[in-house]
Amino acid sequence: MWTKEILKKLIRDKMEDYLFIVVSNRQPYIYKTLKGRVECLRGAGGVITALDPVMQACGGIWIANSTGDADKKACDSSGKVMVPPEGQNYALKFVSLTKEEENGYYYGYSNEAIWPLCHMAFQRPVFRQEDWEYYVRVNEKFAKAVIEEIGNKKAFVWIQDYHLALLAKYLKQMAPGQLIVAHFWHIPWPNYETFRICPQRREILEGLLSNDLLGFHICYHCDNFLDAIDREIESKIDRERFAVAHSEHETMIRPYPISVDFSGISDISQSDEVMAIREKLQEEYSLRGYRVLLGIDRIDYTKGIPERLRAVERLLEKHPELREKIVFLQMGQISRIHIPRYKQINDEINALVEEINWKYSTDSWKPIILVRRHLSFKEVLAFFSLGELCVVSSLHDGMNLVAKEFICSRVDMNGMLVLSQFTGAARELTDAVLINPYDREQFSEGIWQALNFNEEEKIRRMEKMRNIIQKNNIYRWSGKVLSELLKFEFSE
Ligand code: G6P
Repeated sequence: MWTKEILKKLIRDKMEDYLFIVVSNRQPYIYKTLKGRVECLRGAGGVITALDPVMQACGGIWIANSTGDADKKACDSSGKVMVPPEGQNYALKFVSLTKEEENGYYYGYSNEAIWPLCHMAFQRPVFRQEDWEYYVRVNEKFAKAVIEEIGNKKAFVWIQDYHLALLAKYLKQMAPGQLIVAHFWHIPWPNYETFRICPQRREILEGLLSNDLLGFHICYHCDNFLDAIDREIESKIDRERFAVAHSEHETMIRPYPISVDFSGISDISQSDEVMAIREKLQEEYSLRGYRVLLGIDRIDYTKGIPERLRAVERLLEKHPELREKIVFLQMGQISRIHIPRYKQINDEINALVEEINWKYSTDSWKPIILVRRHLSFKEVLAFFSLGELCVVSSLHDGMNLVAKEFICSRVDMNGMLVLSQFTGAARELTDAVLINPYDREQFSEGIWQALNFNEEEKIRRMEKMRNIIQKNNIYRWSGKVLSELLKFEFSE
């Protein structure tokens, strides 16, 4: 079984002569001034959850976009800061973007064009030429930041996600022969009918083909990508080896289902600190005596939050005996709020919670509680331990790590997962109650079913899901990517 130690050994044995650099848009740690003091907060989102434990185990340099007002202050003269504050295991280097760059590259092209294009959640992508130009410019800016670190050394570079589709191309142009580059695409890759509407599709595909290794969560996304290549780019596709030859360069395409730190999460979940937070939260939200159902997401239209609230409403309609017995706790971190669609979904969720609570609440009970404040990871784990059910209802999701984190945290085996069939996680966690978030009846029935499993059934399902994640843990994910990467040889 892959562990932190085995991964460390792999890196030590095979990578010691080279630099190891991870590049992503989102920073793993953010320095903010709060009440006059600089504080270090852990960043949110799937990329951080997955890669921070890997970097803590392996060391190296992580390059990311700076969004904290005190990031610069935290850095030393080389423009880097060692993180996390308590372990100082790896170096974090920031790329600073102007307001215009952030607007065009992050809010614009990454999140109003590529994000909806790849998620197919019936949100029309918006392709603005000026956003694309910023996207190109920022990808070049990231490339320069990587090259600055490398000098004339040789390095393995691991690029993360859809913000940086052109990075490998610039890196290979700027430092030919010095780099071996992998890219992991953390979101779905759509089918060709969807993808072909993208005006910059060729540039994006060619950018990605500059990588030596390109990873997606599941085979289906690899197949979709190969289809797009087949239709758009003059190249040779080897379907047996899952490789594409283009412009005298070969790219391997592979599925790597991402995961979480199983043993790390299991251990922290049982810590005295988490148990103490649990007590406090139970008081703060008056949860004692209720059956608690949970939802936790970044507020995003792909996560199916209104659909989830409507399913809970239907549950209360059909099963009045659950009134004053259950509480649905929805935690949501505001995200990408400068994009109108995100503001709109946030308003929609607020209005829906108001409506359902108005309809069903009594003097002493409200069916839905919305938790809006920033939660530390330990608070999330404490909430997990309070929940009988966790509901993940994405309309489309590359993997969804909340589902996996919830399973890891339930060392007591006492909990159940209701999971959208449109997540990558549903392919592995087949013992969850699988639902279609677009089908309100079936969704609310799924919650009902999950609430009514007997102990034995719950434990049987939980045990199977825990075994799967224990084996397919985050160290296995990164170990597999890095072992493949290490097979490539630097050209002379
Ligand atoms: C998704 C993306 C990640 C990103 C996360 C949070 O999971 O794949 O790259 O970190 O969302 O999104 P944000 O826009 O807040 O970085």
